[in-house]
Amino acid sequence: MIADGRAAPAWQGYYRVPQLRRWQRAIATRFSCRAFLGPADVSQLAALEYAAQRVCLPGTRIALSARGADSLVIPVPLFPGFKGLQQYAVILAHRDLPRAGLLAGVSGEAFVLEAAHLGVGSCWMTGNYRRSRARALAREGEAVMAVIPLGKPLDPHGAKHRTRRDLRALCQDDPAGWPHWAYKAAEAVRQAPSALNRQPWRMSCAGNTLRLASPRFGGIDDGIAVMHMEAAAFAWKRTWRFGQDGRSLLLQAEETHDIA
Ligand SMILES: Cc1cc2nc3c(=O)[nH]c(=O)nc-3n(C[C@H](O)[C@H](O)[C@H](O)COP(=O)(O)O)c2cc1C
Repeated sequence: MIADGRAAPAWQGYYRVPQLRRWQRAIATRFSCRAFLGPADVSQLAALEYAAQRVCLPGTRIALSARGADSLVIPVPLFPGFKGLQQYAVILAHRDLPRAGLLAGVSGEAFVLEAAHLGVGSCWMTGNYRRSRARALAREGEAVMAVIPLGKPLDPHGAKHRTRRDLRALCQDDPAGWPHWAYKAAEAVRQAPSALNRQPWRMSCAGNTLRLASPRFGGIDDGIAVMHMEAAAFAWKRTWRFGQDGRSLLLQAEETHDIA
């Protein structure tokens, strides 16, 4: 097996430009939707089924349930409640998959951004959901990584309520001096969802290399950030690799052209 430092991550070259372009646009409209007008309609559901087949990195899988989400969420005082929820997806990974959290984060966020593109609201969940509802969709040897409630959002403009740290708080050096692609990638990470909205990511840029790290690197939040970086930098020729320590990711891009 090639050492982590040299092996290309699974998402390197995996997604096509039209997909990444769609997802880059969807980053601005995605939000964690907890109030639904109703379920996704038949054509949205068919497109989601198609997306679930297409976006999963090897070893991960997304299963959809077109009904039965009414008892998916466990109401807890810390989290806001859900309204009008009927549909959900389950993000699954093989039990022995190395870096399962990271890969599930990439696949799941590709699905979430495709949903946003289709006008379907979604919300990542790893906490207050009923495990039995999720496990019902798992196959033997698969672990449930997260569930994602789905449906038509009550407020399609919910993204305006997102709260985020200043970009400089996520960056170890001033992003104003970074190459345009690196700045765009970092800004896309800033807009990403994270558990408890912790925004755990730390980024730095040296030359043509952007580094992504976090205190407990390798979880779903980091995979989500990877997908946002990959979508934001779709127009640049780029290479991904793990840092020498295996606890960070490096994205190198060629500043061959600029897009406004
Ligand atoms: C990995 C992950 C796990 C999450 N788990 C839960 C959860 O268990 N319950 C919940 O209500 N929201 C959950 N969320 C949603 C976050 O609270 C939400 O993404 C964050 O507050 C930012 O929301 P926004 O993107 O709409 O600004 C989770 C998000 C992520 C990325």
